[in-house]
Amino acid sequence: MAVSIRGRESAARLYENAEHPVARAYNQAGEKYGVYADGDPGKLDAFHEQYAYCDQCVWALIDEKMRALRSSGARSIRILDLGCGPGTWLRRIATRAWTLGFTSITARGIDIADAQVRQARTLSRKLRELGGVDLTFEVSDICARLPDADASVDLCLCLYGVLNHIPMHRLPAVLSEVARVTCGHFIMTARAIGSTPTICVDALEEARWFWRDISADRLEIELQNGRRFSLNYQLFRAEELRAVAAAYFKLHDLKGLDLFHGRFSGDRRWNPPGSAAGAQFLHELARLEELYCRDPDFIDHATHLLLLASPRKQREHTLEELPSSGFAE
Ligand SMILES: C[S@@+](CC[C@H](N)C(=O)[O-])C[C@H]1O[C@@H](n2cnc3c(N)ncnc32)[C@H](O)[C@@H]1O
Repeated sequence: MAVSIRGRESAARLYENAEHPVARAYNQAGEKYGVYADGDPGKLDAFHEQYAYCDQCVWALIDEKMRALRSSGARSIRILDLGCGPGTWLRRIATRAWTLGFTSITARGIDIADAQVRQARTLSRKLRELGGVDLTFEVSDICARLPDADASVDLCLCLYGVLNHIPMHRLPAVLSEVARVTCGHFIMTARAIGSTPTICVDALEEARWFWRDISADRLEIELQNGRRFSLNYQLFRAEELRAVAAAYFKLHDLKGLDLFHGRFSGDRRWNPPGSAAGAQFLHELARLEELYCRDPDFIDHATHLLLLASPRKQREHTLEELPSSGFAE
């Protein structure tokens, strides 16, 4: 399906006529996506199986940045999560910010798939009752202009595959917008060119077949239940990501995550049941990860690339080319 922005048509108007292919896929995945990605939605601090190592690294970084902000004397924090999915990360963060003693916590997640946003709102109901926590989720396209004021966001996140769904030619405008609204740090992960296979919306076992068309940056999937999806999906080389991000950000770190763990995960098609690694083995994998995560010969074989950045000095951001809200394929 090809949908293009004409003038400054609103996303709402466009969605009446056509559902964005990425939204369609994550809408159909519904609650199952969250269970696949994060496990039990009630267990926020139990990092889940296959991506546990990666999640722990991302969490350690987010936690470090929140603690540093709190130690500087700040009592309020603003967080923006782009492509928030079912909101697991924002629920973790809002909970942690509250225990760290922030008294004003403004956390906003946006996602193009309304089923994910609905799920995020449902799961965060209790948390929103905590004093000082303003946790909201909205359906929106990250390729549109963000409503946030310049330099108003302490921590901007874009985690796990969101940017892999954004057409490459749109990436500079998205990053420019992130740099405009962020005053603190931008933490993102994206799938690396040599990452283990994924169908993004669910576990691999749920696919009858899938095909990653490298030349066309597309992922074609047919699920066991017969549903088919065709998604924009490009994978990143570390240097490519570095180059596009460096135009808008000071890069503090760029490293590969899950260089080794993914290869030993509990996927029955290459690791037979009962071959689960013991604690000593996992400790050794973590040591190897640390050793090679920035090595140019290894980094592109990671499952995810993790970028930590802060915006360059505020500059003129020309956003004429961005729709007020909308999408294009
Ligand atoms: C693999 S999921 C990751 C969800 C979440 N960041 C996490 O780590 O659990 C990718 C998410 O990006 C969202 N997404 C993809 N393209 C988007 C866009 N242009 N605007 C907003 N959300 C988008 C999808 O709907 C989906 O929920």
